[in-house]
Amino acid sequence: MYAITAVEAGGSEVLKYGQHPDPVPGAGELLIDVAAAGVNFIDIYQREGRYAVDVPFVPGREGAGVVAEVGADVTDFEVGDRVAWASGVLGSYATKAVIPAARAVPVPGSTDLEIAAAAMVQGMTAHYLTHSTYQVRPGDTVLVHAAAGGTGLLLTQMVRMLGGRVIGTVSSLEKEQRARQAGANEVIRYEGFAKAVRDLTNGEGVPVVYDGVGRATFDGSLASLRTRGLMVLYGGASGPVEPFDPMRLLEGGGLFLTRPTLIPSYLTNRQELLWRAGDVLRWVSSGKLRVHIGRRYPLADARTAHEDLEHRRSVGKLLLIPEQSENWCL
Ligand SMILES: NC(=O)c1ccc[n+]([C@@H]2O[C@H](COP(=O)([O-])OP(=O)(O)OC[C@H]3O[C@@H](n4cnc5c(N)ncnc54)[C@H](OP(=O)(O)O)[C@@H]3O)[C@@H](O)[C@H]2O)c1
Repeated sequence: MYAITAVEAGGSEVLKYGQHPDPVPGAGELLIDVAAAGVNFIDIYQREGRYAVDVPFVPGREGAGVVAEVGADVTDFEVGDRVAWASGVLGSYATKAVIPAARAVPVPGSTDLEIAAAAMVQGMTAHYLTHSTYQVRPGDTVLVHAAAGGTGLLLTQMVRMLGGRVIGTVSSLEKEQRARQAGANEVIRYEGFAKAVRDLTNGEGVPVVYDGVGRATFDGSLASLRTRGLMVLYGGASGPVEPFDPMRLLEGGGLFLTRPTLIPSYLTNRQELLWRAGDVLRWVSSGKLRVHIGRRYPLADARTAHEDLEHRRSVGKLLLIPEQSENWCL
């Protein structure tokens, strides 16, 4: 098989494409022919060594494909099944991957495998943010940062599905157009966004901010909240947030702050995985939720995908496609 290996911690240049022996599934595992692997910010953090992973390793926590072999004790899946996975897994940047069966979910026959791969991490993230961390209610106005990002576009649609109104931040006109197509009611730039949010909410502020940008937006996000509002810091695309004084929460009117993740916070067991992934894949297959794939790269070109994501050049989801790498020069 072919795979991308992060040969050491560092910049995108540590990602190397090469040939490896085919992996063998152990008990409770599936061998998958990978149709598409999702590119996520956490892959960059792991490549950089910000999140510790033993090197060398094959990155990639998300993907979709077809079961090629089942290990011992697997009862839920058979050869030929179409499956997707996210989180709690490494090794998706490859033509073949071994996945614990407990992490795989069935993909409905009507759903394209690339779309399924693109929907898993960011779709389940948008699901838990809008249905569990803060249950969006009809009439809520919420602030979604990076509204044209992979998570942002799905969050925007889910808030609208639940009857909420979205104020989204973006950095460019192209991203503004994409966020509006996803249903964002108001789209603003980052400069002075807290004041803009106040102006758009009659001075009241919003009950919840979904902030995956982190360092650059954290202060303004707190200032955008109404009394007893909830700050959901779910990522740090601009960098980690500096330590801060909890008195800021008092000054903001008894604010709440949470820092959630899929694992361990919101995919606590298989039932929760099947619920969130099942909702997301069903909505995608019925057309209720649209997944925008910003760009597909040959697996061998994972380096460019990482650079595009970390340098803010992406819109929607980025995917690696193994079969496009067939004639890539080693
Ligand atoms: N906690 C969880 O469960 C969870 C799950 C998935 C993702 N996340 C986190 O959510 C965040 C977004 O992830 P994503 O995969 O959906 O990415 P994304 O939103 O598709 O891409 C990141 C976007 O953040 C914005 N951004 C603002 N300042 C930036 C900067 N200095 N550098 C880079 N980007 C900047 C950019 O949009 P503009 O140009 O429009 O500003 C950029 O396109 C990441 O921090 C990720 O780690 C967390």
